[in-house]
Amino acid sequence: MNYIGISTGFHDSALSVIDDKGNILFAGHSERYNKQKHTKHLCLDIVNDALSYCTSSDIEVHYYERPLVKYLRQLRSGEKPVLSNLSAREIIGPGLMHKLEDGRKRKIHTHNHHLSHAAAGFQTSPYDDATVVVIDAIGEFDTISIYTAWYDKNGVAKYKKLWGQRYPDSIGLFYSAMTKRVGLRPLDEEYILMGMAAYGNDRPVKDMSNELVESFKDITFKDNLHIGVPDNFLAGVDEMDIACSAQMIVEQLISNVISKARMLGGSKNLVYGGGVALNCLANRLLGDFYDNIWIIPNPGDAGSSLGAAALGYGKRLNWTNAYLGHDIPGMYPVNKLLDYLNTTGIVGVANGRAEFGPRALGHRSLLADPRGKEIKDKVNEIKHRQKFRPFAPVILEEYTDMYFDIPCGWSNSRYMQVISRCRVPDLFPAIIHYDNTSRVQTVPKDGSGIRELLEKWYVMTGCPMLLNTSLNVRGEPMVNDRADADRFEKLYGIKVLS
Ligand SMILES: [Fe+2]
Repeated sequence: MNYIGISTGFHDSALSVIDDKGNILFAGHSERYNKQKHTKHLCLDIVNDALSYCTSSDIEVHYYERPLVKYLRQLRSGEKPVLSNLSAREIIGPGLMHKLEDGRKRKIHTHNHHLSHAAAGFQTSPYDDATVVVIDAIGEFDTISIYTAWYDKNGVAKYKKLWGQRYPDSIGLFYSAMTKRVGLRPLDEEYILMGMAAYGNDRPVKDMSNELVESFKDITFKDNLHIGVPDNFLAGVDEMDIACSAQMIVEQLISNVISKARMLGGSKNLVYGGGVALNCLANRLLGDFYDNIWIIPNPGDAGSSLGAAALGYGKRLNWTNAYLGHDIPGMYPVNKLLDYLNTTGIVGVANGRAEFGPRALGHRSLLADPRGKEIKDKVNEIKHRQKFRPFAPVILEEYTDMYFDIPCGWSNSRYMQVISRCRVPDLFPAIIHYDNTSRVQTVPKDGSGIRELLEKWYVMTGCPMLLNTSLNVRGEPMVNDRADADRFEKLYGIKVLS
């Protein structure tokens, strides 16, 4: 039996496949195949790729939310949903379903949206029990959920909900409304708002919270922020100050939820998921409440495709790493990468299975020598992104403490989910933010290609890290296959090795 999990129809469509031993055979983003960032459509190419990893023709399809309940919420929020939204089969696309089912029509199992987030987190975590916190914009009606989770004597994952908040009171919708307020795209560019926060000051924080937040304790808001705030909200206030204040408020709200979870749940282990868990600045605070923290590298809705499949399987998954998508076969080109880094200082790599999640972790990466002042402008020129946005370092894990202070509660930063303070910011201006923090990827002794590259780079230069940013053509999702890599090479004149 293979379990196919699907999240699609809203944004960040994705598909995952696991077998009946808990092995994750495939997990990928549809956007990497149809080249539409955050696409709400599943496409034939990802279905074909996923099917090539299936080990059984006996399959079950699991969908990440409950269409009927979501339809009712959409009616309530005035979104005018179409009738076809009532059917998971219609949302996925009958043609794609026909392909997945090999013509044999079967039941599509549907799951609660927040439970899919919870399962993606808990069933990939190393814990036997955990308190699971889910915070996103909206599930069907849920916006925050706290569960206690454990495995029974047969190894079946169990979830019991301890507390929740519902639409329209939503931390995610608040942050998206502020994203829109500063002229960025909600449900897409929240990470830019987070990056802007370091440049602002908190002058408007009192006005912002007085006007919008009803109760920090109960996580309630004065208005429905689903449609954003009026254009004249905090008129004339600097956008960086809005970003800074929004981040302060969101951190206070998240802290209150995590504190509540600590109080209600009996476990010392925290599993955290939902789109808000991508806020790596706020994630530094989780260690104030928990010593053990697990966030799946893909905690948003795309990751819920794996959560839905996990609910179908029912037990712990065999999690090893985030390299679960499309494969570009071949040995990791370590020596050639070193040659380019030594001569041109910058090189692309597209090798092995693509990352499942929003971060490039060395399989679809643009790598550069992080030392010196010039490299930041050089990479920015290629990426065409706002100058205030820093790049990230990838470092041999055992040297992390020499260069960065990873926040308490985090034993490592393998999936770039938390910011760390850089101890020597003057030496590495390209990989630190305005506030001297970095979003570090630490690489353990795991036998991976990126590990070998860093080890050899260290022997050659005495520097245990590289600059690492995602390999993508401007405005497009990350490179997926070799044809994408060729297009990147042609457009920017940067070698991409496979
Ligand atoms: Fe969600």
